[in-house]
Amino acid sequence: MTVAYPRKFNNSLSARDILKRVVSDREIHLITLNRYRYNEQRSCKDLTELIEQLNGNPPELTRDLSHHISDESRHALWLTDLDLLVELGGPIDTPPGV
Ligand SMILES: [Fe+2]
Repeated sequence: MTVAYPRKFNNSLSARDILKRVVSDREIHLITLNRYRYNEQRSCKDLTELIEQLNGNPPELTRDLSHHISDESRHALWLTDLDLLVELGGPIDTPPGV
């Protein structure tokens, strides 16, 4: 899975500039956190499907993917439960857009 980190937006805004704008707008901030939460949750599903396709072969890759699912699950839980979206009263539904 590829994760793209924004460096420049139209060669004018850095990732730090974008973050300042996102954090200063509560609604956009919550939508962004929910998007992260959704992606962490969704990766568990995708990785589980891959493990099922591998059907135990090779065992080492299956083991590594299982560890990866565990990590992604903890990230989704952190964003959902631990004083973030639920505590902030933010959405935990399917986020808008792609
Ligand atoms: Fe993650």
